[in-house]
Amino acid sequence: MSLPGPIDPPARLLMGPGPITAHPRVLQAMSAQLVGQYDPFMTHAMGEVQELYRGVFETANAQTLLIDSTARGAIEAALVSLLEPGDRVLVPVMGRFGHLLVEIAGRCGAEVHTVEAPWGEVVPLEAIAAAMETARPKVLAMVHGDTSTTMRQPFDGLRELCDRFDCLLYADVTATLGGNPFPTDAWGVDAATAGLQKCLGGPSGSAPATFSPRAVEVIESRRSIEAGIREAGDPTAAHPIRSNYFDLAMIFDYWSPRRLNHHTEATTMLYGARECARVILEEGLGSYQERHARHGAAMAAGLAGLGLARYGDQEHRMANVVAVEIPEGVDGEAVRRQLLADFGIEIGTSFGPLAGRVWRVGIMGWNARTDAVLATLAALEAVLRRHGVRVPPGGGVDAAYAAYAADGTTA
Ligand SMILES: Cc1ncc(COP(=O)(O)O)c(C=O)c1O
Repeated sequence: MSLPGPIDPPARLLMGPGPITAHPRVLQAMSAQLVGQYDPFMTHAMGEVQELYRGVFETANAQTLLIDSTARGAIEAALVSLLEPGDRVLVPVMGRFGHLLVEIAGRCGAEVHTVEAPWGEVVPLEAIAAAMETARPKVLAMVHGDTSTTMRQPFDGLRELCDRFDCLLYADVTATLGGNPFPTDAWGVDAATAGLQKCLGGPSGSAPATFSPRAVEVIESRRSIEAGIREAGDPTAAHPIRSNYFDLAMIFDYWSPRRLNHHTEATTMLYGARECARVILEEGLGSYQERHARHGAAMAAGLAGLGLARYGDQEHRMANVVAVEIPEGVDGEAVRRQLLADFGIEIGTSFGPLAGRVWRVGIMGWNARTDAVLATLAALEAVLRRHGVRVPPGGGVDAAYAAYAADGTTA
């Protein structure tokens, strides 16, 4: 085999549902040199990361930290650490990622109950309440924004419901954190996990997460410190958390002043996660979210201006991803391929029943920008025309300009 050259990716504008083009500042931070995992610089940086993500999650939770994995790993860490085999969990399902929570909770040995809404809708609070009555769960596990359908589940009333049933509230905020309001403490969420590769504007591979004192109590009651690092007086549980890598009690110890060794910290990812949060908080969380809403609205208007029908309940659309139906007779994958080949722009399709039926266009992180929105719409118009779609000339870009003008911003 001849030696491959140095990595040299083509220029791309990632306008799909994630991953998105990383913020240049994040990439720059990730090129900083490594230090040892217990170097005072590193432990200080870990403390900074905790404080920064308290800002992003809008929480006072002491246990706010990074899980070294993609977002799916953090879901697994939360559920395997909260749920013992036989515990009941209720999962409202409105798309692929609700199914993922069901899958993961099932593998934790939990008794999984579901309440489903058709894809493209959200689950009504009354339906969740009725299911809680039957399931009496220990955990209500909910996806905030299900990227597969682009629907954003309202959290109004969920804390009251959980209090009524003495239940923990877990949220997968992978697709929404940063770009949509998610005030963890104000909404009474006990555990929330994310990923960097969407609104947070970084690459996948680090998962910010936060846990309320109530969740921490449940997790710590299961603490079992592994042999080899265990000291006299350290607990060993009768029913330890079923995963070693995702054992949150041990991960908490690692992030605590005791710095009990668990895994080797993914230092470069931590640098990246730190910069993502710095970018957000420097702009201001409110302004960052507002930017996602504004460019998301312009993209939604522009796609409609191209004559594409928006998919799903628009009242509950996530700010940062827009799904549109692929016109009858058009090969959606061929359009995506040409958009990538000719313009270097990536958009997504979806999963399961929506594979090949919708395109999903993301407006996230660094890409929540006017030029990214307008370039995507102009390119899509050109490609659609080449695929025989009768597109109103300039319809996408003009509609986006009109949306910007309507909200008082000039494009
Ligand atoms: C809502 C949601 N949850 C979980 C995941 C899984 O994330 P990851 O691929 O980083 O493991 C995704 C990925 O797209 C997602 O959109």
